Amino acid sequence: MYKNRRFLKARIEISMISTQGSESGKRTSLHGHWSSKMAFILAVTGSAVGLGNVWKFPYVAGENGGGAFVLVYLACVLLIGLPVMMAEILLGRRGRRNPVATMALLGKEEGGSSKWKLLGVLGVVAGILILSYYSVIAGWTLFYIVKSATGVFQGADAETVGAVFGGFVGSWQAVMICHTLFMALTVYVVARGVERGLEQAVRFMVPALLSLMVVLLGYSIVSGSFAEGLGFMFTPDFSKLTWNSVLAAMGQAFFTLSIGMGAIMAYGAYLPEETSITGASGAVVTADTSIAILAGLVIFPLVFANGLDPAEGPGLVFQTLPLALGQMPAGAFFSTLFFVLLSFAAWTSALGLMEPAVAWLVEHHNRSRSQAAVIIGGLIWLLGIGSVLSFNVLADTQFLAGTIFDNVDFLTSNVMLPLGGLIIAIFAGWVMCRNSSADELGGAGTVYKLWRVLIRFAAPIGILFVLLKAVGLLPDLG
Ligand code: PFF
Repeated sequence: MYKNRRFLKARIEISMISTQGSESGKRTSLHGHWSSKMAFILAVTGSAVGLGNVWKFPYVAGENGGGAFVLVYLACVLLIGLPVMMAEILLGRRGRRNPVATMALLGKEEGGSSKWKLLGVLGVVAGILILSYYSVIAGWTLFYIVKSATGVFQGADAETVGAVFGGFVGSWQAVMICHTLFMALTVYVVARGVERGLEQAVRFMVPALLSLMVVLLGYSIVSGSFAEGLGFMFTPDFSKLTWNSVLAAMGQAFFTLSIGMGAIMAYGAYLPEETSITGASGAVVTADTSIAILAGLVIFPLVFANGLDPAEGPGLVFQTLPLALGQMPAGAFFSTLFFVLLSFAAWTSALGLMEPAVAWLVEHHNRSRSQAAVIIGGLIWLLGIGSVLSFNVLADTQFLAGTIFDNVDFLTSNVMLPLGGLIIAIFAGWVMCRNSSADELGGAGTVYKLWRVLIRFAAPIGILFVLLKAVGLLPDLG
């Protein structure tokens, strides 16, 4: 325990270590290093596990027909997500700066061009855009903490739970207050130094969330239409799969793992040399995927048992879980606890979403951390108003992918993150010299060879193919 405390402190102190090099000839980070491998895994897990697992995965899987979508999602996580995550971490550790500066530096070192820094810029913009709507949904979880605590869901039926949701999101004022509150909390913590307490929060939050989900799974098995839910999630019906749903599955893989925008690269910058990138990435991907699958297993049986629609959309989780929790003994307590944990999960992810932009403002424009947090947070809050209104006043204003919220979500998850992943894969697989990547990944063994095949071929070809197919630029064969 004592040791952990020391780790925490070591992690947060901004040391004045030179960024130019250490005695071993390797670079060190301006912001100090993670104190242990566990600290790093916890921070990355904190960023990965969030609304993407519990809120987004079930509703996107529901909208895209279930089984076949889930299969494509799992394939994307394994064949594209995992290698791209490893690449992001290794680039971060190699550069030891914020993503923009890391890519500028490595671009020059490895490829002769600092233009690669555009990847960092893409990440800064993606982080700001994602957080603009992420904060709105995280605000919903804050509202649900209060609602749960008042006992509204205790013994409530599907209709009542649905009416609470509809009444809430229908009021732009209520949604705005919650969005504002969540952004204020995020800015406050980012301004004080992101890492303080983060490890402890994640150390508690992830196992607690996992345990509560397992309890809910028990409830779902007993009281839900479990066989139907299981069938929906795991019996692939490929006739339901369109190229757009394949794109949604790939986008979900990027979103849930927090990859493709430099957030993980920023964390990799503080990773000690001796930590295994493969091991750490494997642990994070396993934890993240388990929570998403568990969420699906809890939610779909309840959806079918209560005659709800799996393609309900973003409100799905908010209309099923309070129902289940309300039926349990001490339902108000468990419901409150669940939404507290979910807000925590959202909050640790939000910190990761803001970090690239804040680090960039601090390092490039000489702002203090607090100033940067307020400026970036204010901008995100303002942009978030579009998503606040998407569920009420502007719900009928639809264009391209749907409401403003739908468009920002589509643009970021399905376009910007995969594009970022593509650039990362090309850089790590084709531009960076073999020695540099082998050096970071612990030598040229079997795992390295496998990674190299995935990052050079599977990831870039897969991403490009799906992107082009989804926009109709590749014709169908046969
Ligand atoms: N992975 C987070 C989630 O599943 O909720 C969302 C996210 C966080 C995406 C941080 C990207 C990021 F940089």
